[in-house]
Amino acid sequence: MYPQLPPGFRFGMSTSAYQIEGTAGLSPSIWDTFAARPGTIRHGEDARVAIDHVNRYAEDVRHIAEAGTHDYRFSFSWPRVLSGGIDFYDRLVDALLEAGVRPVPTLYHWDLPQSLEDAGGWMNRDTAHRLADYAGTLVVRLGDRVRDWITMNEMNVHTLYGYALTDHAPARGLGLEALPAAHHQLLAHGLAVQVLRTHGAATVGVANQHFPVRPASDDPEDLMAAGLFEQLTNWTFSDPILRGEYPNELIAAGIGTSGAQLDRDLELIKARLDFYGVNYYEPTMIEAPKAGKDYSGVLEVDIPDGMPFSPVPVKSDERTDFGWAIVPAGLTEILVALKDRYPHLPPVIITENGASFHDPAPDVDGRVRDEQRISYLDAHLRAVAAVAESVDVRGYYVWSALDNFEWAAGYDERFGLVHVDKSDLRRTRKDSWYWYKEVIAAQRRS
Ligand code: FCB
Repeated sequence: MYPQLPPGFRFGMSTSAYQIEGTAGLSPSIWDTFAARPGTIRHGEDARVAIDHVNRYAEDVRHIAEAGTHDYRFSFSWPRVLSGGIDFYDRLVDALLEAGVRPVPTLYHWDLPQSLEDAGGWMNRDTAHRLADYAGTLVVRLGDRVRDWITMNEMNVHTLYGYALTDHAPARGLGLEALPAAHHQLLAHGLAVQVLRTHGAATVGVANQHFPVRPASDDPEDLMAAGLFEQLTNWTFSDPILRGEYPNELIAAGIGTSGAQLDRDLELIKARLDFYGVNYYEPTMIEAPKAGKDYSGVLEVDIPDGMPFSPVPVKSDERTDFGWAIVPAGLTEILVALKDRYPHLPPVIITENGASFHDPAPDVDGRVRDEQRISYLDAHLRAVAAVAESVDVRGYYVWSALDNFEWAAGYDERFGLVHVDKSDLRRTRKDSWYWYKEVIAAQRRS
């Protein structure tokens, strides 16, 4: 029996520009600069070709559409738009609509133009205004056909990995001093909502990563460490949007904007949304740092010494090949937590969920037998179905449509429903693709 979701539920697939398109001919983004530095990306890989989606989009749209997918979430490359390549999105959107798939693009999925980073990147308030201009360019050009928009992707991961730590571009390593980068992205979100609505967008949302943060024990110090970590990594990015305030005074003081300016910013940031996108992968477990204990290798990123929290491995019998704990109940848990925290939570779409397994090349019969991915997706869809009575969840998008460039982890980590051969970029539908098609077809219509 396939998981059953409420009538009208939207099944989708997600990707992002930098991870699939290929960057030939574009002005550089922070990720090109980062990838060019030795030791940043596994095996020294880069995304110059990625999976060459920019040339193969017509085939890719067929892989997306022929599964019966309702929605396709992709992102625009800001450098491509600046480099005069907006036509590509015209063609992509037309191909999707022609194939009966609704485009749900994200304005910004981490590939900041290097020229803006040189001017301070997200630490500079002006970047928020530049994003609003860019949103205007896109909605004016595509708004006759694109009705549904997502502003920003995972401002929390971008801030933490790229600005607080050095594991993602732009590798600033600012620690808690990175908080202004969070505020400026939130401001960019608020300004973008305004621009998109002015130009007639039908629905506007945001995609935030959320994960339950579990304390390692009932010890008050661990509870406090977990609580602070949860505020910094989860609520700092959703409270301003869904409540119009930062989760605590310390964080509000750290963002570098105050007084009447902050009030005006929060007014914009808390603008009504039509949907709230949740990206979910795994829970995190946190304890207060214990002297002399080695915490390296627990997350893909190491939290530097001196921080008041340390991640410890989540107890789980099952892990993906990326080492991420498989905890479907965590998705139910975070949806319930969001509903409890925000009584006026807009309808939710799970804008990303999926798993990396190191699938082998297609068998002699052309099949990619990825049972583990099927059981991961099946369990997470059931975790959504389990709360469908109490939380208004309207959609679920698999990360990802196709295997792609997994940031600092390069191409080893395969999240796709469609296998992509590293050497010749040939696409092969995995068993999970056929399974997803069956799931969509098996839904009751009323
Ligand atoms: C999320 C990112 C997405 C992808 C998945 C695996 O954090 O938004 O681009 O890399 O993780």
